[in-house]
Amino acid sequence: MPENIILIGFMGTGKSTIGRQLSLSLGYPLIDTDHLIEERAGKSIPEIFAQEGEDAFRDTETNTLRSLAESTNHIISTGGGIIGRAENREILQELGYVVWLVASPEEILARTSRNSNRPLLNNQDPAGTIRKLLTQRMPLYEAASHLAIETDQLSFDEVVTGIVESARYHYSQTDEEE
Ligand code: S3P
Repeated sequence: MPENIILIGFMGTGKSTIGRQLSLSLGYPLIDTDHLIEERAGKSIPEIFAQEGEDAFRDTETNTLRSLAESTNHIISTGGGIIGRAENREILQELGYVVWLVASPEEILARTSRNSNRPLLNNQDPAGTIRKLLTQRMPLYEAASHLAIETDQLSFDEVVTGIVESARYHYSQTDEEE
C-alpha cells in the first residue's frame, strides 16, 4: 500500500495548515490538489468556477486525483468537495490513509469568513450554505476516511501528533497483514 496520508474535510477545517505541518514533521512532500488544479489550469479556483462552472472544476479535480495514483510517501491535502463523487472516494482510499478533519459549523464560518476565495461560500448566506453542504457531505467524509479528528478543541500540534501516531499504527497493521 502506498504510504500516503490524505487529508479530507470541509472548507476551513485546516487541511492546508495541518498538511504543511505533517509534511515538515514527517519529511514527506506536500501535494495540495487545489494548487495542482490552479497550476494546471493557469488560473485561480474562483476564476475556474466563474468562467467554466463547477462541473468543469469537478472534472479537473477527478483527473488531478487520478494523476496521483503513483505517489508514495506524500501528504495529500484535498479540496472540501472532493468526496462528492464515488470515483473520487475510491481513489482516495486506494491512495493511502485518509484522515477526515472535522470542525463545527461555527468554527468553519469563522475560519472561512476571513477570505473570499471560496466561490461556494460567496453568497448572502454562507452560514446556511455551510449547514446544508455539511449535512449532504458528512456521510461521504465518513465513508471515505479511515480516521476522523475533531479539531475545534485541539491545537494544530495536537492534531498533527494524533495523525502521525494513528497513521503509524495503521501502516504497522497493514504491514503485518501482508
Ligand atoms: C470546495 C472547497 C475548496 C475548493 C473549491 C470547492 C468545496 O477547497 O476545492 O472552492 O466544494 O468544498 P478547500 O476545502 O481547501 O477550501
